[in-house]
Amino acid sequence: MAKINENYLKLPGSYLFSTIAKKVAAYSEQNPDKEIIKMGIGDVTKPLAPSVTEAMHRAVDEMGTAEGFHGYGPEQGYDFLREKIVEKDYKAREMDIKPDEIFVSDGAKSDCGNIGDIFAKDNKVAVCDPVYPVYVDTNAMAGRAGDFVNGHWTNLYYMPCTEENGFMPELPEEKVDIIYLCFPNNPTGVSATREQLKPWIKYAKENGSVILYDSAYEAFITDPDVPHSIYELDGAKEVAIEFRSFSKTAGFTGTRCAYTVVPHELKLNGTELNGLWNRRQCTKFNGVPYIIQRGAEAVYSDEGYAETREAIRYYLDNAKIIRDALTEAGLTVYGGENAPYIWAKTPDGMKSWDFFDKLLEEAGVVTTPGAGFGPSGEGYIRLTAFSTKENTIKAMEKIKKIL
Ligand code: MLT
Repeated sequence: MAKINENYLKLPGSYLFSTIAKKVAAYSEQNPDKEIIKMGIGDVTKPLAPSVTEAMHRAVDEMGTAEGFHGYGPEQGYDFLREKIVEKDYKAREMDIKPDEIFVSDGAKSDCGNIGDIFAKDNKVAVCDPVYPVYVDTNAMAGRAGDFVNGHWTNLYYMPCTEENGFMPELPEEKVDIIYLCFPNNPTGVSATREQLKPWIKYAKENGSVILYDSAYEAFITDPDVPHSIYELDGAKEVAIEFRSFSKTAGFTGTRCAYTVVPHELKLNGTELNGLWNRRQCTKFNGVPYIIQRGAEAVYSDEGYAETREAIRYYLDNAKIIRDALTEAGLTVYGGENAPYIWAKTPDGMKSWDFFDKLLEEAGVVTTPGAGFGPSGEGYIRLTAFSTKENTIKAMEKIKKIL
């Protein structure tokens, strides 16, 4: 008889954002007249930039002609996009990344999850706590996380990020093989400086570990001490894989385009991980549509860059509105300065799911309960700055009224 992957049975409930969506849908059904403002999942609200849609239109027209038609594309992404990424995201910041180290994909979420395919099951994995649930759930699916007992996976190494340590993980006290880091951080919105990241490169070198660096929110960085890429640090190419996304940078959450960098210098036992990831992608992935990659390329044009940066500024302004309003309402807030997420402490030690329910039921505002991101997220909620400005202001007024 065929057997299922029993690791799936160990997963608690549904995926965090599906659980929240179901809760909100049930609430809306029971309260059809109540206005709901969504500040839960980090989904953008601003439309695609004109340069992007124009490039996509041109690509659609090309696809309708014999000479411009594109069938299967390269699994790694078209050269025109890989070269632009190298030039604008890396060379412009004095990093030496080669086009064949860039793998264009349909999302950083997929890549962060799929990257586990190239690592053995018995690697010891370290995650921040709280953490983007994809890192944890995909390792659990692969059988690398052990069992879920009292809110913890038995085989994962948790690195608590708390108010006491400024939400910065401390280096593991034992040897770990794979380390997920995300800066600017989801969910806390806190960013790491070059100095704060240096010890991680040293640790990885000394222990033969690989850092999986999620830098999906780099476009929101305003502080010059905060690196946009892990490769701004010496030696990082020997120890780190980096994930980037057009989702938040250019509003591609519904359009799907991202990329992962696997440098040739990164080797385990003499084997380049670049080759393994390439093998994995060629076998399981057929590339991002030509039309979408032309849209992503347009993000790097002068106009495209200016347009998409305007949207980032808009979201950062929302983040400030949220920070100021919640502070005024008496809450302690973190993040939101180099990131689109605000991490707020619940009032009077309230449980995060209880505060989530209160904000939904009394203010009609959807947030994400911190506990959903891991045990150390208890006592916090996360808000996103990706709403419209009007809704952000309205949501804050409603929250202030009930607190
Ligand atoms: C989030 O809300 O944490 C993100 O939107 C999730 C994602 O990017 O997949």
